[in-house]
Amino acid sequence: MKIIIGSDHAGYEMKEYLKTRFATEYDWHDVGAYSAESVDYPDFAHPVAAAVAEGKFAKGVLICGTGNGVAMTANKHNGVRAALCWNAEIAKLARQHNDANIIVLPARFISNELAAEIIEAFFKTEFEGGRHARRIGKINL
Ligand code: RB5
Repeated sequence: MKIIIGSDHAGYEMKEYLKTRFATEYDWHDVGAYSAESVDYPDFAHPVAAAVAEGKFAKGVLICGTGNGVAMTANKHNGVRAALCWNAEIAKLARQHNDANIIVLPARFISNELAAEIIEAFFKTEFEGGRHARRIGKINL
């Protein structure tokens, strides 16, 4: 599966960890940041969200310190459903109920190991459809 991934400086180390940890499972397309030098999170969240909104990638990963900055930015794009997840159960529900297409991780509040568990739960869980499809159909402006 091809996955687009981006982070700011706060998420850089976790991004590198996840790319290495899942090097064989996923085909990563990394839009940066490419170092831990201070940057602005919208510069990385917009390209990831735009690529998902345009259908170039089915799913994406965004990481910043709290997760909130990249989530707020990504969710400005119609068709993007970016879910801030801090455990595997929330990630699973974000797929089952919200058909989330971008997972957002709060790098300063979870371990790399937990981030890997969250990623696994997110990418192996399918959308349930049904009443949830009706609800997500009401999200876009
Ligand atoms: C960077 O210091 C931090 O503000 C950023 O990573 C993120 O948490 C913003 O929402």
